Amino acid sequence: MRSSVIGAKGKTNCIGGRITQLVTEVLRVDPADPNQKLIARAAECLRAGGLVAFPTETVYGLGADALNRQAIQRLFTAKERPANDPLIVHVAAFDDMVPLVADVPRAARELAARFWPGPLTMVLRRSPRVPDEVTAGLETVAIRVPSHPVARALLERARIPVAAPSANLFSRPSPTRASHVLADLDGRIDIIVDGGPTDVGLESTVVDLSSEPPRILRPGAIGLNALRESLPAVAAHDTAIRADAAMPSPGMLTLHYSPKTPLLLHEGSREIDLPLMKQTARRLLDRGHSVVVLAYGEDTDELRSLGVQIVELGHENNPTTIAARLYSALRECDELGANAILVRSMTTAHPLSGAIQDRLRRAAQ
Ligand code: TXA
Ligand code: MG
Repeated sequence: MRSSVIGAKGKTNCIGGRITQLVTEVLRVDPADPNQKLIARAAECLRAGGLVAFPTETVYGLGADALNRQAIQRLFTAKERPANDPLIVHVAAFDDMVPLVADVPRAARELAARFWPGPLTMVLRRSPRVPDEVTAGLETVAIRVPSHPVARALLERARIPVAAPSANLFSRPSPTRASHVLADLDGRIDIIVDGGPTDVGLESTVVDLSSEPPRILRPGAIGLNALRESLPAVAAHDTAIRADAAMPSPGMLTLHYSPKTPLLLHEGSREIDLPLMKQTARRLLDRGHSVVVLAYGEDTDELRSLGVQIVELGHENNPTTIAARLYSALRECDELGANAILVRSMTTAHPLSGAIQDRLRRAAQ
């Protein structure tokens, strides 16, 4: 077990705040039927205070024992994540959540019955067992039961709550493939369990049940209408919340990915946005800038003739494919090293469209 030696011995990757080099081991598993020996190895590493990246149905997470302060500190160091950004705790089943929260409101039972396991995170009042490092000192804790077979197998085997933010370096897009995790965290973590590309491609819907009324803090694959069928009072995600407003979720507002290349988002209808985007592209090209367009399949023919580089997102009428590809596509755009990225908003009515729109707006900031 070459690379996980350091994690397995419970040593740290951080001496006096500096990151020491680890050899990161990649364990490839069949996502539908993960090899139990490899899962056991990854689970042991987590139990020993190690850092293990693994696929969930949304994005890859970087796991650490949620009750081990040292492991959590290593996790923040590896990601270069600011300490005021709280983590989501992943558990194998609803009952494993109970010791981590002050009480279980009826709404939590109802949402869990309908959406767990799955891409929904609930924010609840926390119990004293959860370290401050996990919640960034908040009196609440975010919890979810993932549905990905690899995540489930790992959590069931480890039998500990696992804090897992997205497995990217702070300021990079969330990883949807093991290769993205390796690009960001090679040498900083013990193990990557490679279970292939993730399914949804965007992070979970986060709903705050500690507030009155409950409200969506981060839109995701589970949309407002679906949530309202179980919890009619739930308030929509407030897109108007700004970084300088009172912050219900510290990390969510100010700390997010935006590409190194400036991203210009055109928000409106295709009829207005496509010609506008072409105009912007021409103006930039005329000034000698290189331009990459993050383009829907429907638009590529019209755009290609302009002489811009194109990274295709998929067809606008297929938001599921676009969500699955978005973060990969943003990484590709950055790698092209252009002066600007142009993209237009999605106009399709679909629960995922709002979540995609939210991520594009954050990337454009
Ligand atoms: O799909 C996901 O949620 C992925 C996978 C790995 O599960 N995880 C993920 O974690 O996206 P992360 O750390 O990248 O995002 C966690 C979000 C942050 O925006 C954070 O502010 C919010 O959850 N959060 C965590 N604890 C919170 C709390 N107590 N109150 C409000 N927001 C919280
Ligand atoms: Mg993240």
